[in-house]
Amino acid sequence: MKLAVVGGGSTYTPELIDGFARLRDELPLTEIALVDPHASRLELVAGVSRRMLARAGHPAEVVATSSVEEGVAGAQAVLFQLRVGGQAAREVDETLPLRCGCVGQETTGAGGLAKALRTVPVVLELAERVREHAPEAWIVDFTNPVGIVTRALLDAGHRAIGLCNVAIGFQRRFAAHLGLAPAQVSLGHVGLNHLTWERSVLVDGVDVLPKLIAEHGQELADDIGLPVELVRRLGVVPSYYLRYFYAHDLVVEEQRAKPSRAAEVAAMEAELLGLYADPTVDTKPELLERRGGAFYSEAAVALIASLLGDRRDAQVVNVRNAGTLPFLPDEAVIEVPATIGAAGAVPLPMPAVEPLYAGLIANVSAYESLALDAALRGGEERVRNALLAHPLIGQEAVAGELTRLLLEANRAHLPWV
Ligand code: G6P
Ligand code: MN
Repeated sequence: MKLAVVGGGSTYTPELIDGFARLRDELPLTEIALVDPHASRLELVAGVSRRMLARAGHPAEVVATSSVEEGVAGAQAVLFQLRVGGQAAREVDETLPLRCGCVGQETTGAGGLAKALRTVPVVLELAERVREHAPEAWIVDFTNPVGIVTRALLDAGHRAIGLCNVAIGFQRRFAAHLGLAPAQVSLGHVGLNHLTWERSVLVDGVDVLPKLIAEHGQELADDIGLPVELVRRLGVVPSYYLRYFYAHDLVVEEQRAKPSRAAEVAAMEAELLGLYADPTVDTKPELLERRGGAFYSEAAVALIASLLGDRRDAQVVNVRNAGTLPFLPDEAVIEVPATIGAAGAVPLPMPAVEPLYAGLIANVSAYESLALDAALRGGEERVRNALLAHPLIGQEAVAGELTRLLLEANRAHLPWV
């Protein structure tokens, strides 16, 4: 079985390779094509990937190419994990909104909008290549902002599913607290990508979330950077991305006082590439654990194995709403548990969502549709409207100023500016 990774020169790729090697029985790969325009970097990443597979005795061949056509041809699944503009563009996403008192984050708020503007057209272009050369392939999208990018792919008629590691991270953490295997734990995960809450944790059909919060509330709260009182009062576990909403002003203060995550990551990437260049390195470096992508490979392997093997198990993915959350349009993309089989992902029925969460979900979903419209059609006015609709921006003067700054800073990536 052939799998292609678009953005395969990412320093994250060894995380994927490590998962492919460990989970070879689930996903019998014979070829992994790493596709990336950045040749020197791709060579380093392909090199360490080959050594990792050889060490694990995995038979898959690693092909490194800058040609999308060659990489995806004959693939049954294509992973998208690219970052248009690299860490330099991310640095802008994370710092520019701070000038206006807004959170600086690569997927949330104005930074996320800038990322969507840069990314959607590139992803759609790549997806057309997949449609041409591997029409049967599933596209698994990790490329952020995953909710908006997945919606763009689905609207254009691609066989695409969006994936994030937040849910699998919670599943693993809860299972560890409970002394259980992750597969024994089912999450009542609801919301949009990077805007989710765990409302239940089922073990043998019994909701153990109240017990988890009672016994491990402080650790759970520490993991997401929010007060334990909030977690206890709500009785749910928000993802750490909710901190950008529930503690917005505090985060802005913190961000102003320290280097950006982009700068941290850029330094780690330089160090990682140094390790990948070392011919004696044939395992996933520990340093990679300090990146946000823990368990990505496991989520990807599980998803692809269920799509190709029609396993019909439940996994949390980004998928069309199709009535699951009745307060959102059917076409919206949501992040929920879904049954995964050969026909794709079908969301599981969802208990009614409380107004406390539904309000924010609806607000951000509306923003996402405006953001996608701006990414597809361009235009200052559309960008400004998306910002005006975002609950973390909202003020017209701020939306105007951020529009100006963000378009100016992203000029090189936006042909219409
Ligand atoms: C988590 C998120 C990803 C995001 C990553 C950032 O894994 O789910 O969507 O890309 O964090 O990690 P980084 O190490 O680049 O800050
Ligand atoms: Mn994510």
